[in-house]
Amino acid sequence: MNLVDAAYQRAETSGFPMSCEQPVGRLLAVFAASIRPGGHILELGTGAGVGVAWLVAGLGERTDVTVTSLEVDEKVAAVAAGETWPSYVDLRVADALAFLPSAVGMFDLIFADAQGGKIEGLDLTIAALRPRGILVVDDMRVVDDWPEDFKARQAGVRRMLTSHPDLVSVELDHGSGMVVSTRR
Ligand SMILES: C[S@@+](CC[C@H](N)C(=O)[O-])C[C@H]1O[C@@H](n2cnc3c(N)ncnc32)[C@H](O)[C@@H]1O
Repeated sequence: MNLVDAAYQRAETSGFPMSCEQPVGRLLAVFAASIRPGGHILELGTGAGVGVAWLVAGLGERTDVTVTSLEVDEKVAAVAAGETWPSYVDLRVADALAFLPSAVGMFDLIFADAQGGKIEGLDLTIAALRPRGILVVDDMRVVDDWPEDFKARQAGVRRMLTSHPDLVSVELDHGSGMVVSTRR
């Protein structure tokens, strides 16, 4: 079974309900494939490893890129750690908000898919992008029956990404709703 199918299966078996949707993952694979040799990719929120699996699918046989993924919940991190990943994948049990201040200007591609670094500390995530680096966020479509405070936080993320002077951003009606940004 390929890594993507195995990751979705692992998520289901372990009862992890927050994996990225297939269209989001496919876009991650497209961006991963575009990363320069020597480039660095970061995911905030590993979950069951679905996002990492899509990034690896995009990289194919390449070994000249690193993929770092952070997960704050040890039990969840253990689910993704059950897979055999390529050697360039570094899964860490870590809080994104503690990691990001040491990562200024480091990453060519960031998938910000955790509370930390997306809802809180989005400025730190933006600062971790290299010039011309790409930032991907999903779950940006408004869902009517979400609590109002959740909708407000989502709107704050959208506003910051689409108005930030260092970013060129686009909202995409793709998967769960996405905003994709490039750092100037
Ligand atoms: C939406 S899920 C991630 C799904 C995964 N990116 C994927 O594509 O399948 C969000 C994850 O972020 C983790 N998380 C929440 N806050 C975090 C933080 N501050 N640092 C790292 N991980 C965090 C949660 O424990 C959860 O597993």
